Amino acid sequence: MKDSGSDMRVGLTFDDVLLVPKFSDVKSRRDADTRTRFSRKITLSIPIVSANMDTVTESSMAIALARLGGIGVIHRFLTIEEQVAEVLKVKRSEGVVIDDPITLGPDRSVSEAQNVIGDRDIGGIVIVDGSRNVLGLLTRRDITLEDDLDRAVKEVMTPRRKLVTARKGVSMEEAKKLLHDHKVEKLPLLDSKGRLAGLITSKDIMKRKQFPNATKDAKGRLRVGAAVGVKGDHMERSRKLLDAGADALVVDIAHGHSAYAIDTLKEIKRELGDVEVVAGNVATARGALDLIRAGADSVKVGVGSGSICVTRVVTGSGVPQLTAIMDSAAGAADSGVPIIGDGGIRNPGDLTKALAAGASSVMVGSLFAGTEESPGPTILREGVRYKLTRGMASLAATVDRRVRETGGSGPKEDELVGEVIEESVPEGVEGLIPYKGRVDEVVRQLVGGLRSGMSYSGAHDLGELRKKSEFMRITSAGYKESLPHDIQRVV
Ligand code: XMP
Repeated sequence: MKDSGSDMRVGLTFDDVLLVPKFSDVKSRRDADTRTRFSRKITLSIPIVSANMDTVTESSMAIALARLGGIGVIHRFLTIEEQVAEVLKVKRSEGVVIDDPITLGPDRSVSEAQNVIGDRDIGGIVIVDGSRNVLGLLTRRDITLEDDLDRAVKEVMTPRRKLVTARKGVSMEEAKKLLHDHKVEKLPLLDSKGRLAGLITSKDIMKRKQFPNATKDAKGRLRVGAAVGVKGDHMERSRKLLDAGADALVVDIAHGHSAYAIDTLKEIKRELGDVEVVAGNVATARGALDLIRAGADSVKVGVGSGSICVTRVVTGSGVPQLTAIMDSAAGAADSGVPIIGDGGIRNPGDLTKALAAGASSVMVGSLFAGTEESPGPTILREGVRYKLTRGMASLAATVDRRVRETGGSGPKEDELVGEVIEESVPEGVEGLIPYKGRVDEVVRQLVGGLRSGMSYSGAHDLGELRKKSEFMRITSAGYKESLPHDIQRVV
């Protein structure tokens, strides 16, 4: 028999608490240091991760967040090839030296070149022969106004004799000077035999200045995470994502404190060697500890906390997010493995509370789904622009998944909807979210609020925030007082 409940623990979430203001000698918000860790080996300048949801993170979001100092996790509801292509777009988006530039043979057509340039979102292609000898360079400008799309690229490219090139291993200063002196934007690098050995672009050099806090790997490329499942093609997917340069794999399963998640984690660690693996989701100290013992380099925390989740309603299971973070952080404390607070972040204050409670970073879903960089178009309704957000366990996401799995050869979409309704019990919903413009602005608000919050707690960095902060539980009257009240709100 269960007891009457008098000893039952209370679970709290962000709105149940406030941080008590503390003496502060932080002179300016700018002095608050937001550097943190995403996983054992990956550091971030800001503690923000974009969620592996199909309405949140593909390459555009991942590029934007990594530039700002966070990181994005590409969702897994794509074919392996599609997900790999998204990772490659991030890895190729900038980097001081592009090791493996995109190339095309001299006899390929202008229309093929246009497709490559469009698909990969790049400014130009190096034209090489079968032995990778550089024959020329084709830029967007060379083909934008070309009427004859069947023409061979060798007829429209800038030929080798007119190209400015440099040797492999050229210093950044020399490369900058060459680009500047010759007023060109791309510098192919050649090995001693004249074969293509890399590419440096002026755009990438400029971006390095523009985004000094970007999250980058040892080669100067933006970092990106990629989600994998625990069944089916997960090992092949993991291998190919790592080959494409993914910096971390995120083992993505709703109930991460499970034999499935632990076995997958061990398998990846055993088979794929030295790779950063984030595992989740869990909501307890024991859950975090078990994943860490199985090899997790970071643990994702949150069961039913997301804005589009109905897990708690449908299953009766979950832990309010602040308590889930505190408990999981306590479970992880001795290992030094960081915790990612996943779901439920609606305001900058929630971010500060999550970090004060022990998370090293937070994962953000719907708050980013309304931005320009999230996948999918904007939807106009009664003059207002929206974007779509949906739980990955929602009916619509499950139907889309099935359509993809059958490769269009299975039952029609409306039949599939029927099948899915009969078979599945959705744990997510779908909804519209007002269009918010670029993600930079949303991140600026989050980080600005965090820096202020750190100052209110007298914290110069996130370690101090965790140590110094003191939570106070509040009543519903206290919560009401925290919101704008007793005014006719204008903005
Ligand atoms: P936010 O609140 O930022 O949360 O939108 C994003 C997180 O929600 C989780 N997620 C789900 N949880 N059913 C769930 O119970 C779902 O269908 C679902 N889809 C996403 C996920 O952890 C994500 O990062």
